[in-house]
Amino acid sequence: MNTLDIVILAAGQGSRMKSTLPKVLHTIGGKPMLQHVIDSAKALENARTHIVIGHGAQQVETALSGQAVQFSLQAEQLGTGHAVAQAMPNISDNGVVLVLYGDVPLTRPETMAELVKIAERGQFGLLTVNLADPTGYGRIVRSDAGDVVAIVEHKDASDAQRAITEVNTGILALPTALLREWIPQLSANNAQGEYYLTDIIAMAAEQGVRIQAIQPATEQEVQGVNNRLQQAELERWYQRRQAEALMLDGVSLADPARIDVRGEVSVGHDVAIDINVILEGKVEIGDNVTIEANCIIKDSVIGCGTHIKANSLLDEAVVADNCDIGPFARLRPGSHLANNAKIGNFVETKKANIGEGSKVNHLSYIGDAEVGADVNVGAGTITCNYDGVNKSTTEIGDGAFIGSNTALVAPVKVGAGATIGAGSTITKEVQADQLAITRAKQTNLNNWQRPVKKS
Ligand code: UD1
Ligand code: CA
Repeated sequence: MNTLDIVILAAGQGSRMKSTLPKVLHTIGGKPMLQHVIDSAKALENARTHIVIGHGAQQVETALSGQAVQFSLQAEQLGTGHAVAQAMPNISDNGVVLVLYGDVPLTRPETMAELVKIAERGQFGLLTVNLADPTGYGRIVRSDAGDVVAIVEHKDASDAQRAITEVNTGILALPTALLREWIPQLSANNAQGEYYLTDIIAMAAEQGVRIQAIQPATEQEVQGVNNRLQQAELERWYQRRQAEALMLDGVSLADPARIDVRGEVSVGHDVAIDINVILEGKVEIGDNVTIEANCIIKDSVIGCGTHIKANSLLDEAVVADNCDIGPFARLRPGSHLANNAKIGNFVETKKANIGEGSKVNHLSYIGDAEVGADVNVGAGTITCNYDGVNKSTTEIGDGAFIGSNTALVAPVKVGAGATIGAGSTITKEVQADQLAITRAKQTNLNNWQRPVKKS
């Protein structure tokens, strides 16, 4: 099988983003644009990915460290042809080259594959699109017979050529041997003084290599991002697609325009999601889950039948079935809820196992804790897990009852079935079924005289 070398151009400055972050690292759906391109390219078989970097090269390399991609440095940006030339030494001799762009994030793998197939037949695959306003783009020049014969950049085009609405997306595929032959023949003799990759189209036409132009399914597939307005427009389009995919998967969305998916979400049946919910990272949602308004759920697993009430935040939480969370709950990393657990309003959990049927209903902090089954944690209970230097664990046995406003000073254990009187500060182990109470005894005084205002 032929090798496929994918060259992603990502050396440009992107000055219109007005950002210190290289343009290709700006995100769509929470993921850097360049990463979208890399991930889509991964869907192609037998491919090796090359990235041409220049502006912010170090930042881009760092952002992609550990990934199976090869970098080529384009120290000076002398044009798209010059950019591709920088990757040529790393490209295998037999096979096909596909050129993509780090700032065109949403090209579908299917479209890429179609171009590659054309190139594998020894032809030139070119992705073009018809735009109502073609200003700024390279125009596709066709012969009377309708064959593509050249691409003329906007700045080099005649008035007649500027009237052409079919434009170059920049995305193309061709046999490597041809590219290797043509790249050294490029010149910078044009309006911008750049080495245009697009000049190889005319070379192909002259040599009788058939140029087959195909079109993307949607304009957004070939939409480049040059400024934050275009980024936001593409983001909304992308989010609409995510919402549609969820709805077609059976999710009920209160408003498809008011959910953001910034990662990968899997869903069971009969999931209902209210407005302004953000799902980030890898989120797994089971059957019959309800998520109320304004929740942010990141890298979490939500079991069947669980109800997450409004304004709750979950981050790296694992929630089993039929749990009740919120409103205004915050489950931080390492929060594990067993079936039927309840985490109520203004409760924060972190690195805590909450056993089956246990309840932490109001105004609590439970961190570094092992809580058994059927435990009732009263309002205002705090695990004092941090002494200013070290974190320590609190263990609470099955069926324990922790009175309201208890401070559990870790490390500390409360045995199964134990009861803690409200307002206690627990510093020593409480055995199973004991009552522990540390608050001062109540004193009632008779004939108490309230102070009176001095005249
Ligand atoms: C290019 C095409 C044009 C097409 C348009 C689509 C050329 C000569 N023109 O024009 O036909 O309609 O894209 O958007 O190819 N880049 C580098 N190194 C360079 C120059 C560019 O990496 O030296 C990268 C940029 O970061 C960018 C991409 O290549 O991602 C396109 O470059 P840009 O300068 O935007 O090309 P256009 O003038 O828009
Ligand atoms: Ca451009």
